Amino acid sequence: MPDTWNSSDKFNREALQWDDNPGRKALALSVAQAIVTATKPNNTMLALEFGCGTGLVTMEIAPLVKSLTAIDTSSEMLSVIKEKIKIAGISNVETLHTNLALPSDNLGIEKSFDLIYCSMTLHHIDDTAGFLKRISNLLSPGGIIAFADLDLENGQFHDDPLEKVHHGFDRGELAAQLKAAGLLPNSFETIYTMVKPDRSMEPANYTVFLVTAIKQDDLHCQ
Ligand SMILES: C[S@@+](CC[C@H](N)C(=O)[O-])C[C@H]1O[C@@H](n2cnc3c(N)ncnc32)[C@H](O)[C@@H]1O
Repeated sequence: MPDTWNSSDKFNREALQWDDNPGRKALALSVAQAIVTATKPNNTMLALEFGCGTGLVTMEIAPLVKSLTAIDTSSEMLSVIKEKIKIAGISNVETLHTNLALPSDNLGIEKSFDLIYCSMTLHHIDDTAGFLKRISNLLSPGGIIAFADLDLENGQFHDDPLEKVHHGFDRGELAAQLKAAGLLPNSFETIYTMVKPDRSMEPANYTVFLVTAIKQDDLHCQ
């Protein structure tokens, strides 16, 4: 029974089979395309992805940016992405095993970023408001975030009813939390609808949004 928001055991167990699910790959491709359209990555940008998993989105964004720091709390997910990077001969991605959600002065990150993005990871982080402030402080002035995640759902998206997750996000509340973190929301769009059986095996629709927001100058959030 999971009694913690630290989901690394679960993702460690799932890492080797993660890419076998075609729905996950289709979602990741849609997220990557939406991020590219909304943020226009270029080869001067320093990018950070948190919750990179096996790198389904990472591998699409990496060729477009100068460098990409790919972070995850699951060592097994990171093993899979590292193997992909090696096989593809990609040299601009560094992986980092750290938990950005932990309040710590030393996360092993020395630089600031022009683009910070994630796909389906924000709902695994307990204190959204505090986390957004930490993310804001890692962004360069004028930098952009792009987060893909679930709209509010009925609590049936995850198979385990006891898994500690947010059951999606209310767009208005998330926009307010972004603003409080010094991030001015730019766009909110529905980028994907996932159809998957709920726990009663009835097909259910779950919509995924992409929100982008720009770091406002002269704001350092505490
Ligand atoms: C639902 S998976 C998504 C993986 C990947 N983005 C994808 O689209 O396939 C969530 C990922 O976030 C990672 N994760 C969960 N909490 C995290 C945290 N606090 N910091 C960094 N990664 C985290 C998990 O280990 C997992 O790999």
